[in-house]
Amino acid sequence: MSLINWNDTYSVKVRMLDNQHKRLVEIINTLHDGMKTGKSNEILGKIIFDLIGYTKTHFQSEEDLFEKYNYPNKVLHKKEHDEFVKTVGKFYEDFKSGRTGLSLDVMNFLTNWLIKHIKGSDKAYSNFLNEKGIY
Ligand SMILES: [Fe+2]
Repeated sequence: MSLINWNDTYSVKVRMLDNQHKRLVEIINTLHDGMKTGKSNEILGKIIFDLIGYTKTHFQSEEDLFEKYNYPNKVLHKKEHDEFVKTVGKFYEDFKSGRTGLSLDVMNFLTNWLIKHIKGSDKAYSNFLNEKGIY
């Protein structure tokens, strides 16, 4: 069973960014499945590595658009991105060194952060970008 089921309430009304969000959801769901089915730490570590890599790519896409169109809330939004990357990066280091494991708490953090960020900060740029002709 998947942890997050994509639905239209997650749409930020920009196709490329929706697709990237769907990919992030997919990776988080894969990680969740991997945890539930007892995959090795090596495999889980690879999924977390992918998640971090794709998250950075995606954040950069948003931030490039913010810069290009001078989005008024770009500084605060970028700060949220940076904090998330830092937190997940720290977790990855701890996970790799064996100091911590993947738990339901970690999964809940990832899921809740992503959903809250998409539904809050991300949806807040929909109208702004749409008005610039970005769909
Ligand atoms: Fe964002």
